[in-house]
Amino acid sequence: TLEKTYAMIKPDAVGAGNAELILRAAEDAGFIVVKAARTTLSRERAGEFYAEHRGKPFFPNLVSFMSSGPIVAVCLAKTNAIADWRALMGPTNTLVAREEKPKSLRALYGTDGTKNATHGSDSLVSASRELKFFFPNMTLDPVPEGA
Ligand code: CMP
Repeated sequence: TLEKTYAMIKPDAVGAGNAELILRAAEDAGFIVVKAARTTLSRERAGEFYAEHRGKPFFPNLVSFMSSGPIVAVCLAKTNAIADWRALMGPTNTLVAREEKPKSLRALYGTDGTKNATHGSDSLVSASRELKFFFPNMTLDPVPEGA
């Protein structure tokens, strides 16, 4: 089915100047970039976005990293966008991605287990929450004609 997902280019990849390359890789893989907005997260908003990880050992580093510089918030549309974007990103940990999926976005553009270049929603429910978090006025369902 035609889906939208929330994709995010994280501060490591934006800071390295790789945001455009990552958006182009998405388009080359058949995704439509419905929206892309550069913004910076406060610590508070980064913590709210990643609330499900609150209390985990990596949470403080994650919040520091995600608020350390600009990100690009992206809405992607495609058939099976949620699963296909996660496949294009590769394994969460960039060091694992380099071993297991060397052409994936995290292998190419990430740094380590926390600084991993990109994020992608893991389910329809997450995609809806995450798209609303960054694009509160966006229509979520159905995907508009031409989007
Ligand atoms: P992301 O897919 O955005 O979801 C949670 C983020 O937490 C993850 O990418 C990484 O940036 C970060 N992270 C750091 N350590 C871990 C870990 N052990 N497991 C999962 N995510 C981690």
